[in-house]
Amino acid sequence: MSLSISHKGKPQLLSAAQLTLESVEHLFHYADMLRPVASRMKVCRILEGAVLANLFFEASTRTRISFSSAFARLGGAVSDTTGLTFSSISKGESISDTSRVISGYVDAIVVRHPQIGAVAEFAAATNLPLINGGDGPGEHPSQAILDLYTIINELSRVKKTISGSHIAIVGDLKYGRTAHSLIKLLSLYKGVKFTLISPQSLIMPEYIMNSVAHSGNSIDERVSLSSEIRDIDIVYATRMQKERFTSDEIDSDFPDFQINKKFIGTFCKPEVILMHPLPRDSSKDALDLSTDLDSDPRLAIFRQTDNGIPVRMALFSILLGVESLIAKNLQDATWKHPKLLGPNDHFSLR
Ligand code: CP
Repeated sequence: MSLSISHKGKPQLLSAAQLTLESVEHLFHYADMLRPVASRMKVCRILEGAVLANLFFEASTRTRISFSSAFARLGGAVSDTTGLTFSSISKGESISDTSRVISGYVDAIVVRHPQIGAVAEFAAATNLPLINGGDGPGEHPSQAILDLYTIINELSRVKKTISGSHIAIVGDLKYGRTAHSLIKLLSLYKGVKFTLISPQSLIMPEYIMNSVAHSGNSIDERVSLSSEIRDIDIVYATRMQKERFTSDEIDSDFPDFQINKKFIGTFCKPEVILMHPLPRDSSKDALDLSTDLDSDPRLAIFRQTDNGIPVRMALFSILLGVESLIAKNLQDATWKHPKLLGPNDHFSLR
């Protein structure tokens, strides 16, 4: 039984495939412990003096800011790079040289890169703790971990567990790296029914399907909506990754499977949990999660984004080997903070 998270003997997270049920439960134990820090009730400075390089060579809002906030809330400092234009990679420097240079300046690295495999190249050239923040259409393991943490917490609210649940993953499953990582993580569990709904040209890649076939869970692939899809417990909607489309895909006429009130009323159980890794396309007819569900308490998307902080704090704690220090380093915060963060919030992180 391994509780550590490592890749080729180094404290690095590149793929959800590295995780076991035990390592995930270990991580969630510390995420639970750090929830009062994420909700600003407590402070914890176990990474005082450490520096994170938060390297985003591709657009990001929540992954970049939440990794940065998680490291800072543990007392560390953060050095950011955004876009390839502002990195010396644009002058021809190799990923490997860049990685080794940065290793001399910091104590941990998060990397997002538009090309599949580029983060692994970055990881190979450093012995520092490193996290894949998304590599093109490959994987986004920390997103899948916080998605799993959200699923467990939301199911527990309605007295259910992952085993026995019907989970629909909807949208662009070809390029959707969060879906690739999430189905791998969910496949650690038994007795799950998956329905994968996407246009024919954007189905889940065969190599991902092969990697989860061993779990024995039922996986039904659909290229349109039909009356046979019933009783969904969790909808995990994803955005069309248009920035990765080929010219043929851009010109495609996709079938309608917008996740809206009508979809929820037709295909889902009344206590369904609605998730999305975000960002979503909020335009009216987008094939994405509709804004007509925004005041629905079953919409868990912002509880999901909020969970990014305790989960990423726990990840840093484990990868930097300081998780045993958390309990005795929690202190009361000195400032006040609203209990509910947004006007449509129904529950707080506390
Ligand atoms: N979910 C996610 O990866 O969002 P960002 O692209 O904003 O980081």
